[in-house]
Amino acid sequence: MPTFRAWWVEEQADGTFTRRLAERETEDLPPGEVLIRVRWSSLNYKDALSATGNKGVTRSYPHTPGIDAAGTVVESAAAAFGPGDPVLVTGYDLGMNTAGGFSERVRVPASWVVPLPSGLSLRESMQLGTAGFTAALAIERIAARGVGPESGEVLVTGAGGGVGSIAVALLARAGYTVAAATGKTDAAEFLRCLGASRIIPREEISDATSRPLLARRWAGAIDTVGGGILAAVTRSIDYEGAVAVCGNAASHDLPLTVYPFILRGVSLLGIASASLPMPERRALWARLAGDWKLASLDLISREVPLADMEPEMLAILRGGQRGRVLVRV
Ligand SMILES: NC(=O)c1ccc[n+]([C@@H]2O[C@H](COP(=O)([O-])OP(=O)(O)OC[C@H]3O[C@@H](n4cnc5c(N)ncnc54)[C@H](OP(=O)(O)O)[C@@H]3O)[C@@H](O)[C@H]2O)c1
Repeated sequence: MPTFRAWWVEEQADGTFTRRLAERETEDLPPGEVLIRVRWSSLNYKDALSATGNKGVTRSYPHTPGIDAAGTVVESAAAAFGPGDPVLVTGYDLGMNTAGGFSERVRVPASWVVPLPSGLSLRESMQLGTAGFTAALAIERIAARGVGPESGEVLVTGAGGGVGSIAVALLARAGYTVAAATGKTDAAEFLRCLGASRIIPREEISDATSRPLLARRWAGAIDTVGGGILAAVTRSIDYEGAVAVCGNAASHDLPLTVYPFILRGVSLLGIASASLPMPERRALWARLAGDWKLASLDLISREVPLADMEPEMLAILRGGQRGRVLVRV
């Protein structure tokens, strides 16, 4: 029986969760048309939630996290894929309630599999991973709402994190003027290298008053943190501007009134990368491999072997990761 190594998260009798690398068998994997030999994965905030027993992400354990995987097809029951094909999978249910990419093998439905676009290596695809894909989707959404490089400055919150840092780099690549808001005192040089023209300490974009509108500061924003920061940013968006709502690293609350929407025409745009339909998904990956290809991926990401993921996972939960963690499987 072919075996492989995978991260294995178990729930203990006392309600705690333990994590280790375990030997698994191919027949333990869930059903699916495509068996993939995983070469690279990446660490996302959601992986850390899954790995620490967040039942809103993963209902039952034992479980293998990893919402991202890139590798080569081992066998496929779907005509669209054959042995040796380079492919990637991000989102859908991978790593949530389906055994994920922190593993040498995944088996998934063919409908989740994206052929690796030409112009991108497997490694680069996971330097981007769900975080990069989400950042790209957020930019496409604000652009489609009319917020272009000529509209004015665009703010990125949580700019030192995975989604945030790639959003900064992609916005700059696409010609936007980017302000990067971060709580990391040592991230300024990093963010400038990615293309931010202004670094803003996190406290400066918060506002604890109950004023329904604040001075107009941004043409648009990409928010990864939610809560009071997202509320303050929304109250600071200029006429007809837009905020792409990506995450809740700070909070899932949104204390707002209707005034930014009915007096300034502001749009809140929901970003749900995991469920993005396949045609748009393939087009966006092609864009990340083409006119939005980033030269700064090695600056944004650090490579960590699967066996050493425990401290990385704990750091992302604390909001302490800078850029991306690329997982060498
Ligand atoms: N909607 C989607 O499709 C989608 C896809 C991927 C991720 N997400 C979500 O997006 C968020 C970011 O994901 P990620 O993988 O980029 O995580 P990450 O690397 O940990 O980035 C999050 C960043 O948010 C900032 N932050 C953390 N805690 C904060 C707090 N209490 N208050 C204010 N800022 C805080 C930190 O940046 P600074 O230190 O620079 O401020 C942190 O680095 C998560 O909520 C994740 O679930 C959503």
